[in-house]
This record gives sequence, structure tokens and C-alpha cells, in this order.
Amino acid sequence: MKQYLQENIFKIISEAADELQQECYVIGGFVRDIFLKRPSKDIDVVVVGSGIELAKRVTEKLGKNAHLTVFKTYGTAQVKFKKMEVEFVGARKESYQRESRNPIVEDGTLEDDQNRRDFTINALAICLNKERFGELVDPFGGLDDLKNFVIRTPLNPDITFSDDPLRMMRGIRFSAQLGFFLETNTFEAIVRNKERIEIISKERIADELNKIMMSRKPSVGFILLEKTGLLELIFPEVLALKGAETIDGIGHKDNFYHTLAVLDGLSEHTDNLWLRWAALLHDIGKPRTKRFDSRVGWTFHNHNFVGEKMIPDIFRKMKLPTNEKMKYVQKIVTLHMRPIVLSEEEVTDSAVRRLLFDAGDDIDDLMKLCEADITSKNPEKVKRFRSNFLLVRQKLKEIEEKDRIRNFQPPVSGQEIMDTFNLPASAIVGDIKMRIKDAILDGIIPNEHDAAKEYMIQVAKELKILS
Ligand code: CTP
Repeated sequence: MKQYLQENIFKIISEAADELQQECYVIGGFVRDIFLKRPSKDIDVVVVGSGIELAKRVTEKLGKNAHLTVFKTYGTAQVKFKKMEVEFVGARKESYQRESRNPIVEDGTLEDDQNRRDFTINALAICLNKERFGELVDPFGGLDDLKNFVIRTPLNPDITFSDDPLRMMRGIRFSAQLGFFLETNTFEAIVRNKERIEIISKERIADELNKIMMSRKPSVGFILLEKTGLLELIFPEVLALKGAETIDGIGHKDNFYHTLAVLDGLSEHTDNLWLRWAALLHDIGKPRTKRFDSRVGWTFHNHNFVGEKMIPDIFRKMKLPTNEKMKYVQKIVTLHMRPIVLSEEEVTDSAVRRLLFDAGDDIDDLMKLCEADITSKNPEKVKRFRSNFLLVRQKLKEIEEKDRIRNFQPPVSGQEIMDTFNLPASAIVGDIKMRIKDAILDGIIPNEHDAAKEYMIQVAKELKILS
């Protein structure tokens, strides 16, 4: 173990703890990540005694580059040194009140402290005192669980989860993030305790959801959320996508699994969290727009627009940011059908220009989502779509090079229209501007000032502003 504790800071903590005659351990995520070979900057140190006292001594020893913050009410302290953040906390024995996450805290031993942690893989501790430096303390077989890819609580899971229900989300998040399995008892306890999630703040739930979204294969997390029953409580709109109905022998695909396939597929090509959110929500309007028509079968007319309109409520309710990130998600959701429709028809310059105009700089993200949206099991169909998309991409490139539509600025301004025809600011000015824009997008005139001005005069004549 010693080789993982080469950083000077561990030597300093070790000396400080020995001077204060305190037993001290590095514990939790940092130790877990040593074994998983994941980089980790946050170090948690547990002390059998006062965490604040040890942190103060460590700061003195580190000298002027160390920065200490004491959280008196919590009895903890943080030392920032170089790029590292070390949290010092006294070993605790905690019991929780049923209706609150606020624990009643008492001093305890290392064992008490390990008992109250969330999962065996997060309860591993390494001793830092000189005599036992590098000794691993693993009372619950956390190392075996790491080797076998298992998420399991150290105590009876009903106790661990009712102590802090956020841990149910954390367990699912670790499964998705690390590619681990939820041990059966742990899984079943989530099912039993799921309702307790209601005492957890929406922000913390959103934090865990975002971590699930950012994992390599987010579907792992969503399938566990669904199977445990948590999804129904925290995100009913996504659960509503589940199920496939059949009428007169005609079925439709299960939009929950389809959505997850799109999300996983897209995640192979992007780390953009908000594009991943757009994938999760791209069909969110389908349950509300679903109809059966005996002539055409199942339809989901305008599900993209309905989905776009549902997003602000979802974001507000889930305490996700209702700023330009949300607007970006809405935009991608509204537009997600366009490249597909385009690829099914003849790819005209005009349609490509309009798509470029509407998507602007987000066109590449939109194309990534649309390519991931092809989840058909029919290889012929997939091949056809892919080659059509290639054509769309090629056309997008050609048109963009030629017409520069992506960041479209009207070549004739409203001011110029008003000045030329001596018009006040009015609807007619907007109308002329729109006709010029349409003419450019339809390829009637090039995206250039002189051609636009000439066209403006022609429009003015048609509108009888000029004789
Ligand atoms: N912990 C816990 N219950 C929680 C949160 C945290 O028992 N609800 C314990 C775990 O031992 C965990 C440690 O506190 O390892 C540190 O928590 P945190 O920094 O939130 O998580 P990490 O395990 O370090 O993982 P990540 O940084 O990915 O969240």
C-alpha cells in the first residue's frame, strides 16, 4: 500500500498524527480509487480524536502554501495544498432521526466510522500512523467486492439506506460509473426503501443523475432506477416512455429502451452533458402525442414540439439549470426530426440551408444525436439511413462553405430598409426582412448585400411601397 502514499502530504499527516498521539486513516473514495486506478484529488482523513486539531497541526507543518478552513458546527476541517483537498473528520458513531438526514453525532472508533459508511468499497481505510503506515483495514471484504465488481452496504442495507436515502441513488450511480453490480440484498433494500428518497433535496438527486448521465453507459443507471422503482418517484416522465402497445396486430417500439439505446450510442461520441440530456429527452413528448389510426398505425405527431414545451417544467421541478443550457436542450429536442426527414427525401439545398439557419452552431451536435437515433435492428434500414446522413453531412458542408448560413446575419438591416424607403419602424419592415431571408434560404439570391438590396427593391415594388 505504501507505494500509493508517496505524496509528501501523507508523510506530514503521519508525523502530525503521531505528535498528537491520534490514530489516523485515509478512508473512502480515495482508497477505493487507488485500487480502481482512477485519479482522485480529494482525500478524506478520519481521526480517532479531533479532526480540527490534526488539520491545524498539518497546516502548520505544510507552511505558507497550505490553506485551512474549519467547519466548527460539523467538527471538520479542510486543508488545501497544491491541487489537493484534504478533509479531516473525527471518527463518528451516528444514528439518524427518521424524518431527517441530520444525524445525531457521537465520537466513535474507526470501526464505528466504517460501519456508518455507504458501501463496502467506500469503507476501506489505510492507516497513516508511522508504526502501521500503509496497513489496510477492511472489515467488510471491500477489497473482494472491488475485485468482483460488487456494490454492497457494510451493514444491513435497510439501516444504511434509511440512515441516508441518497445512498440508494449513489449505489445506482456507482454501478453505472464503475460498471459494478448491485448485490441482491442491497438491490432489494432499495426497492423496500425507495419512498424515503422524498426527504432528499432535488439538487442532490440531480447531482447523482448527472453523474449517471456522464457515465460510459448511462442506460445501466436508468435501468436500475426503473427496476428499483426509484424512476417513478424521481422522473415519471421518462418512465412514461416505457411499454409497447399493440392494436390490430400493429405495435410500436418501446420508447424507454429506444431512448436508452440512443443515449448510450450518443455517449460514445460526446462528453457534453447537455447533449446527453437532449438524447434522454428527445422523445419525451411521445406518450402525450401517441395515437392509433387504423390506416397508418401508430403516430406521435409533433412529439418534438410537445417535448420541447415539457422541458422547462421538468428542469424547474428537478432543479436543473433553467438557463441557456436548458434552451440548448430544448432546441436540440425541437429539431431532432429535421435531419431524419431530410435524409428520407431528396436532400435539397433549400432544406439544408433552413436546417443550418435553425440549428446554427449546434448543427454538429444535432447531427450526432440524429445518427445515434437510428436504433433499428434491420441492417438494411440502418445502412440506408447512415448513407443518407452522410449525404446530408456532405451537403451541409458544401452549403455552409458557399452560403455561410450557420451564423446568419441579414445582409440588409432593418435600419437600411427604413432609410431607403423612408419608413418608420413597423411590421412592414419586418416583413421585407423576412422575405429577404427566405429568398436567401431558398437559394433565390446569394447571401450577399448587393443582391439582397436589389431584391429588397423588388419586394418594395410588389408591396407597392415603391412605384
Ligand atoms: N459517504 C457515505 N454516504 C454518503 C456520502 C458519502 O457513506 N451519502 C462516505 C463514503 O465512505 C464515501 C465518502 O463518504 O466514500 C466520501 O464521499 P464523497 O466524496 O461524496 O464520495 P466519493 O466516494 O469520494 O465518490 P465521488 O467523489 O465520486 O462522489
